[in-house]
Amino acid sequence: TKIEPFERSLIIPPLLKPIRSDETTDYYEITLQKSSTEILPGLKTEIWGYNGIAPGPTIRQSEGRKSVIRFINKLGKDSQGKPINNVIHVHGMATSAAYDGYTTDYIPPDYFKDYIYPNERASILWYHDHTMDLTARNVDAGLAGMYIVEEPEDLNLPLPKGNYDIPLILQTKRFAQDGSIIFYNQTPDNLYGNVLLVNGVPSPKMEVARRKYRFRILNASGGRNYQLALSQKIDSLTEGEKLIVIGSDGGLLSEPVEIVTPEQVLPVVMAERYDVIIDFSKYPLGTEVFLQNVIQGLDFSGSVAKNAQINPIMRFDVVRSEADESEIPRQLRPVERLSVTSNIPERTFIFRRNQQGKWAINGKTWDENRIDAHPQSGAVEIWHFINPEKGMMHPIHLHLVEAQLLDRNGEPPRPFERGWKDVFLLNELEELRIVARFKGSNGEKLTGKFMMHCHQLLHEDRGMMSQFEVGDGGL
Ligand code: C2O
Ligand code: CU
Repeated sequence: TKIEPFERSLIIPPLLKPIRSDETTDYYEITLQKSSTEILPGLKTEIWGYNGIAPGPTIRQSEGRKSVIRFINKLGKDSQGKPINNVIHVHGMATSAAYDGYTTDYIPPDYFKDYIYPNERASILWYHDHTMDLTARNVDAGLAGMYIVEEPEDLNLPLPKGNYDIPLILQTKRFAQDGSIIFYNQTPDNLYGNVLLVNGVPSPKMEVARRKYRFRILNASGGRNYQLALSQKIDSLTEGEKLIVIGSDGGLLSEPVEIVTPEQVLPVVMAERYDVIIDFSKYPLGTEVFLQNVIQGLDFSGSVAKNAQINPIMRFDVVRSEADESEIPRQLRPVERLSVTSNIPERTFIFRRNQQGKWAINGKTWDENRIDAHPQSGAVEIWHFINPEKGMMHPIHLHLVEAQLLDRNGEPPRPFERGWKDVFLLNELEELRIVARFKGSNGEKLTGKFMMHCHQLLHEDRGMMSQFEVGDGGL
C-alpha cells in the first residue's frame, strides 16, 4: 500500500481520567491489551496498547500531586505462545526503585501492579515498556504514551494552554504487506522502521489557527533520530521559519531558544523531549507549513549541512484567525546550575561493542548483578560518557536523576541543551561530561538500584545497559 501523505488528520491521544481523587493523590487505571486498528489505509494492524490504543492515553498531572496508577496486564500470549510480560517505566520520573520499572520486575498476564509517582517536577515524561530483552518489540507494538506534569499555578506563565497545548509523539515503524508490524528481531539494525507516525498516524495534517501553539515533542522511536525544522515548502527549507524551544526533557529552560531556518534544526534523538512553541500568526490564511525532518547522517550539530535531505513529517494548514492571549515570556523557569566543585566524585562509562561484538558499557553487557556506581543519596557527581567508535551514536539515558550537560568534547552545550535532561546524545568519537544530583523526592531518600542505558532499543535489549545503586549515605 502506498501512503498518501497528509490524508488523515492528526489524532490527539485522549486524556486519562482519574477513577478517584483525594486531597493529595489521583488514582488511575490502565489496562494493557491487544487491539486491531487501521494505521495504513485499508489494512488492519494488531497493536499492543495501554487501554488498547497506541500511543496510550496522555496522563496530565499537576506538579506536586501524587499519582497512583494501576497497570493491568491483559496482553496474554505472543505469536510464539509465550506470555507477554510487562514492565512499566515512567521515563523522567524520580520515584522509588520499587516503582521505577526495573527490567525484570514483570507484570505477568492477568496480574496488575500499582505504581506510585510523586510528580515533583513539571516536564514532559513518557511511559513505556521496559521488559528485559524485549523492550524494542513491546514499544514497537504500541506500548508508549505521554505523561505531562504541569507547571504549578504560581509560576503563572502565559503560555498556550488547553487545545493549544498538544503532544506530538514521533515514531518510525516497519510494516509488512498485510499491515502487521515487523518487530525488531526480524529486522536488521539499519532497517528500523519505514513509516513515520505522529501520534500513531502516518504523515498527518492538522488544521491550526493563526496563533501560538505549544507542542510537546517526544521521540518515542526505537531506532530513529529526527532533526526538526519548519518550512513553507515540502522539499526544501524556506527562510525565517521558527521553532521556539521553551523546554527539554526535565522541564522549562531558563529562557526560550529560537531555531530558525534555513540554517538551524532541532535534533531530537531517541527518547528526548522538547517543549516547542510555533507561532502561526505570521502565516496568511491558507498557508501550508511543514514540519520537516532534516536528515544528514550523524551530524546532529543543530546546523543544516549542504547535503541534508528534507522529509516532511506532518503538515499544518492555517485555516482560521483567532485571538491569542498567550505569550512567550523572556524568562521561563530559572534552571538551577548544579555547582561543580573540585572534590566531587567522577566516573567514566565507555559505550561501545565489546570483544564479543556485543553492545556493552565498560566492556560488559547487562547483568542483574553488575552495579557500576554507588552514588550516595543527595550526592552530586560528574559522569563521563565516551563513544570511541566512528559511525555510531548512542542516546544515553539515566533513570532517577535529571542532569545537566557540562560539555561535549570540551565544547559548551548548545543553547537548547542547557536545561535539565535525562537523555544525552553521545555522538561518534565524543566524550560528554554531565553533572547529576542523586537526590530524593520530596525529601524522601530514593535509594536502591536504577538503570542507565542506551535508548536505541536494540542496543538496550542487546546489552548496552548497566545500573547504579544509590546508597543511604547518611545525608
Ligand atoms: Cu525510557 Cu530506561 O527508559
Ligand atoms: Cu546505543
